[in-house]
This record gives sequence, structure tokens and C-alpha cells, in this order.
Amino acid sequence: MKKYKVGVIGGTGMVGQRFVSLMENHPWFELKVIAASPRSAGKTYEEAVGSRWALESPMPEEAKKIIVKDAEADAAAIASEVDFVFSAVDMKKDEIQALEEKYAKLECPVVSNNSAHRWTPDVPMIVPEINSEHLAVIDAQRKRLGTKRGFIAVKSNCSLQSYIPALHPLRGFGIDKVLVCTYQAISGAGKTFDTWPEMVDNVIPYIGGEEEKSEREPMKLWGKVENGVIVNADSPSITAQCIRVPVSNGHMAAVFVSFKQKPSQEEILKLWKSFSGRAQELNLPTAPKQFLHYFEDDNRPQTRLDRNLENGMAVSIGRLRPDCQYDYKFVCLSHNTLRGAAGGAVLLAELLCAENYI
Ligand SMILES: NC(=O)c1ccc[n+]([C@@H]2O[C@H](COP(=O)([O-])OP(=O)(O)OC[C@H]3O[C@@H](n4cnc5c(N)ncnc54)[C@H](OP(=O)(O)O)[C@@H]3O)[C@@H](O)[C@H]2O)c1
Repeated sequence: MKKYKVGVIGGTGMVGQRFVSLMENHPWFELKVIAASPRSAGKTYEEAVGSRWALESPMPEEAKKIIVKDAEADAAAIASEVDFVFSAVDMKKDEIQALEEKYAKLECPVVSNNSAHRWTPDVPMIVPEINSEHLAVIDAQRKRLGTKRGFIAVKSNCSLQSYIPALHPLRGFGIDKVLVCTYQAISGAGKTFDTWPEMVDNVIPYIGGEEEKSEREPMKLWGKVENGVIVNADSPSITAQCIRVPVSNGHMAAVFVSFKQKPSQEEILKLWKSFSGRAQELNLPTAPKQFLHYFEDDNRPQTRLDRNLENGMAVSIGRLRPDCQYDYKFVCLSHNTLRGAAGGAVLLAELLCAENYI
């Protein structure tokens, strides 16, 4: 099979490194270009990343000697060399919006990990198991941008990738209200314990912008396609507190939920066990076989034991029980830089290829 040629914009960063490493031995994708800021441009990838390599697995050999390009200045050359790009850059929101539109208008599809375009109504924000039908807005987006091939598709924020998958199969019972507290890893801020020593033995009760994203983004995921845009859902009501904890990778969430028609515990467990989405139906290479795993043990899921489940692409759930204020409470966990960031974007790119958008 001919492989798709792929570029990674922001390839030197924390999420970018994951993209680069997920391209190693990918059955459909082949890493061709890495781009970053002018600080890295012109250096080999190995030199540009230097001591910032944050993954346990070594830097892929095929990436080491790639000469890093300037994401902005070399955009036209990059767009002509690849079939699509992943984007994971740390820049101002308006700069990211402009950069991603520039690639789309150069007829290069952009699969983005950034939040900049999440609220653009004709940009689909996709969790492949949840709302693959939102890809339909790409036609309208191409019309607006005046492109034939180019478009932008994004994934949602990492914080909600643990609890929205768990809530989604239960929507038939009418989810009335949700309270969630997230316990988020330091890699979510692009950091390690070496680069953020203040996080050792510490908890910080604030992650800028995260609570708003955790409460609002589910409304777009659960929205409907109407006249070429996504019309957001207006319920359920979600309230969130997001807390940074001394964990390298893995976001945990403690969830409380009430329903319009309260299901039994058995019904919930059955729905979690049987749930699968478009990613499983299409048997996409990065899709977990079983998306939601329920653990019976009271002390699971645990971050270190369970974050890498199904290559970090599955969601683990545990401790489902009745609550005295809400109908139920439970705990869930997902890997924030795999399912929550680069892995989720790779799965989205696979979906876009399988559905003939790329
Ligand atoms: N970490 C996570 O778990 C996570 C999860 C979801 C979403 N995100 C989002 O993903 C994005 C990247 O996050 P990260 O944690 O990977 O950040 P990071 O480690 O700080 O990396 C930032 C990347 O952006 C590049 N960059 C900075 N300024 C640039 C410019 N002017 N032009 C081109 N490239 C530029 C950097 O290149 P240089 O190396 O050359 O400076 C680097 O490759 C952010 O928008 C973040 O909010 C992160």
C-alpha cells in the first residue's frame, strides 16, 4: 500500500515528539517533514530537540537526521511535499489560526491538536468514536476557504477525553447534570519533572482556561450538523474543576452524574462494555479494540498501571457506585498525550483517510 506523506508542524514540542514517534512503523503514514519555529529551523531534528526529548522510547532513527523546516516561512514548500500535516504548536491563538488556514489554503489538510480553531463552526472537532458524522462540515469549510483539498479538522481538549467517552453511551437516559474534577498530568503543560521541578510533591489548583474547555467543548462534540456548520448541544449542564497533580502522563477524572431516567448500574456497565464507534467499525490502525474498559477492583484505574492500556488509546473506568446527591459517581482515566493529544489526532487522520477526506 502506498503510504500517505506526513508533516508535523511543532514536531520539536511535547506533543510533536509523540506525533514523530507514532509515525515510526505506522502502516498508512510516513514522516516526511518536521517543522517548528525559526529557533529550530535548519538544525537536524536530533539537534533541535536536544535534551527536550521527553518520551521513554528513543527518538526514531528515521527522524534524527531530518532537517527541521520553518513552519511559517517554508509553508508552501512543506504543503507541496506532504499529503497532510499534524499541527501542535505553542503560539498565540490568532497566529495558530492564521498558520493553519495558510496550510489549508495551500491545499494541505491540517489535523490539529491546538485549540485555536475548536470554535470555528465549520471546523469539525472529532473524537472518532463519538461524532464522526461531523466530518460532513468539511465540504462547507472548503467552500468558505476556496479550496479543493485543504481543510482543518481538530481534536478536543485532553481533559475531557476520559469522561466524555464514558458519558457518551449513557446519553439515551437523558444526562441531566454532571460534576467533574480532573487530576491532570504535567505533560499536559508540555512539561516534565526536570523542566517543572516545582511540581514534585505538589498540587496546583488551577490550569488556565481548562475548566471552561472541559465544560463547553462537550457541547460541540454532542452538537448536530445543520447547513454546513455544527450547532452546539445546549445540555447537559457540566461543571468542572481542573487540578494539576504530580503525575508525568495520564489525566484522571472523578465524575458525578444524574439522569432524567435513572439507569441501573447493570445497564451502565453493559453499555460501557458493548460500546464501540466508527473507529472500531472501520478497524482503524490506531483504534483500541475495546474503547472503554471497566475495572471491578476498587483501587483501579491507576495512572501508572492503566494509562497505557491499548497503546494509550483506551479509556479506563472504575468505582461506579450510587451517590447521595447525584445518581452515580465513578472515576476514569485516559493518557493525555496519546488518546488526549497526538494519538487522538493520528486516529482522526486515519478516519479522514478512510472516509476519503484526505
Ligand atoms: N501537552 C499536551 O498534553 C497537550 C494536550 C492537548 C493539546 N495541547 C496543545 O498542543 C500544542 C502544543 O503543545 P506542547 O505541549 O507540545 O507544546 P511545547 O512542548 O511547548 O511545543 C511547542 C511547539 O511549538 C513550536 N513553536 C513555538 N513557536 C512557534 C512559531 N512561532 N512557529 C512555529 N512553531 C513554533 C515549538 O518549536 P521550537 O521547538 O522551535 O520552539 C514546538 O515545536 C499547544 O497548543 C497545546 O495547548 C497539548
